[in-house]
Order: sequence, then structure tokens, then C-alpha cells
Amino acid sequence: MSLPAGPVLGIETSCDETAAAVLAPEGRVLGEAVLSQPEHGRFGGVVPEVAARAHLDHLPRLVAGVLDRAGLGCAALGGVAATAGPGLIGGLIVGSSFAKGLALAHRLPFVAVNHLEAHALTIRLPGLEAAEVAFPYLALLISGGHCQCVAVLGVGHHQRLGGTIDDAVGEAFDKVAKLLGLAWPGGPALERLAAGGDPQRFALPRPLRGRPGCDFSFSGLKTAVAHLIAAQPDAAAADIAASFQQAVADVLGDRADHAMAAFAARLAGRTLVVAGGVAANATLRTALAAAAARRGFTLRAPPPRLCGDNAVMVAWAGIERLRRGLSDPLATAPRPRWPLESLAR
Ligand code: KG4
Ligand code: ZN
Repeated sequence: MSLPAGPVLGIETSCDETAAAVLAPEGRVLGEAVLSQPEHGRFGGVVPEVAARAHLDHLPRLVAGVLDRAGLGCAALGGVAATAGPGLIGGLIVGSSFAKGLALAHRLPFVAVNHLEAHALTIRLPGLEAAEVAFPYLALLISGGHCQCVAVLGVGHHQRLGGTIDDAVGEAFDKVAKLLGLAWPGGPALERLAAGGDPQRFALPRPLRGRPGCDFSFSGLKTAVAHLIAAQPDAAAADIAASFQQAVADVLGDRADHAMAAFAARLAGRTLVVAGGVAANATLRTALAAAAARRGFTLRAPPPRLCGDNAVMVAWAGIERLRRGLSDPLATAPRPRWPLESLAR
């Protein structure tokens, strides 16, 4: 393995965060910026065309600012990495085309980064953990668009153990938050509201708890909350939020338990990594840490600012690939659907 020839620029535009970051070849963050597009708030969800146009408006300035803060010109870079999927195709085209243009103009290697792999590898960013989190480990990827358990065997080498059969967990948070009248995106607001509520107040379902395998389901839980609100319109919103969050914590703990058992039966590592926007939730982290301890695993989670979409993780995934001699042709097309298992060479 050899380090990239210079700092690596990362670009993230797969959903509604426009983000850029520059990392030194060994992974030190030299500059970073994340812009959460405010344009979608009034629609109560991400509007793909609006997101793509906003990326187009914001990305050039964001990249220039990050390079400026790092005190670097493009010529000093050792590579450009951009999220090329999975995600909303308009945004993916904007970010990856921008990165390819820079790579072409400055004769730099281009890395087409899989967004899920970027979330899964974030925990290996130097400086986050006392010791590097080594392969293999089990990753629970929980965000607005994704919810899956993956055995991370190496860079480009992943095995999916289970995933959601309906909604992603962040989607459930956002929908329940909307039912409670909270502003979008509702996950963080729901967590704040739940802090003042009673998690035992309402008995909500725990979908798939105790079932074999490690798939997830959240749409029934969301529907149960909708019925509860319709039946008891005067119920305290904080109690509903806390009861919902507790149900999610119980389900995630149970599903992660099954995934750890499956992982431990075949593989040597005993680390459970949680990543993605929902991993910022403290109640869920506590539940997962307890579930991990019961199985002899240790829970590792990136700091909350690196859980949600960001470009530090994209640049880092780029470095992990460049170190192994992996880069991509400029003809690589972005992919709205791009399962992690398909990365295997
Ligand atoms: O990883 P991310 O930024 O974007 C996707 O790839 O989807 O995740 C965003 C999701 C949203 O659904 C948001 O509501 C949720 O993560 N989220 C949270 C929290 N912070 C963000 N959900 C629960 N508790 C939080 N503290
Ligand atoms: Zn994400």
C-alpha cells in the first residue's frame, strides 16, 4: 500500500447535503464544509430536481472555499473522490462530473465512491479511535435512505447480512416527526422532544423482534404511531416521541444482536460499527452499546458530525482506495442504485 501523491479532495452530493473536504494523504482533515440545503424544508422532504439545482449552485464555491482554507491549489492534489451512488441521480451527476472535470484538467486519479462504503469506512479515519478499527467488522448503516447490516471484510469487500423490508429507520423518524408537527428533517428534533418524554408511556409494536435473521421493518411502527395520534389527539407529543424512539432502540438492539451472532459464527472481529445520520442519536447508541456488550462486541461510532452525510468520509474512502491502487476511469457512470456487495472485484 502506498499513500496518494498529495491531498485528496472529496465531494458529496448524493442527497440534500452539498459537501466538500480535503484530507492529507494519511487522512488528516485540512478543510471541510457541509451545506444542508434549506430549500426542501417547505416541501417536507427532499425534492430531487431542487436538490440537483442547489448542488449545481453551491458546489463550485464550496470546493473553492475548502481548497482555500487548506491553502492548496488543485495542482497540489493527489486525487479527487466523489460519491457516484447510490443516491439521487441529478445530484450524483453534478458531483461526479465536477470531480471528473478537475481530475481531467489536473491529470489526477478519479475515485467513484460508493456512499454506503464511505459511511462504513468513516470509523477508520485516523484520529477517531485510539487504535485503527481493523477488518473485519460488522457495520449497521442507518440513515434516511438506508438501513442494513453489513460484514465489512475489507475495502470493496462487503457482505450484506440483512436490511429493511420497507422504510429506512431515518425515514421512520422523519415521518413520525411530521405526524408530531416537527420541522423537517425530523430526526434530530424528535430526539430533542423525546428527551422530555416517558419512553414507557405507550406500548408500540417492535416489528420483527425475535425473528430469525437480521432484516428490519419500520412501516408498521410508523402506522401504529399514526393510529395512536388519531385515537388520542391530546396525548403528550414528548411521550409519543420517547415511546417511538424506545421502540426503535429495542428493534435495532435485537436485530444487531442477530447480526452479531451471524457475524461471530464465521468471522473473527468483535467490533460493531454504527454509521449514517441516525447513528447520531444518543438513545440508539446506548441501546446498541448494551447489545454489543452482551455479545462480547464493542460498539464504535463516528462523532455525530461525521454520522450524517459529509465529504470527509468521501475523501477518506477515496484515500482507502488510492492506497490500494484503486481508481476509476472518467467514463464511470454514476449509479442511483449501487449495492455494496457489487463492489467486489
Ligand atoms: O446519512 P444521512 O445524513 O443521509 C442519508 O444518507 O439518508 O441521514 C439523514 C437521516 C434523516 O432521516 C434524519 O432525520 C436522520 O438521519 N437523523 C436522525 C438524527 N440525526 C439525523 N434520526 C434520529 N436521531 C437523530 N439525532
Ligand atoms: Zn448517508
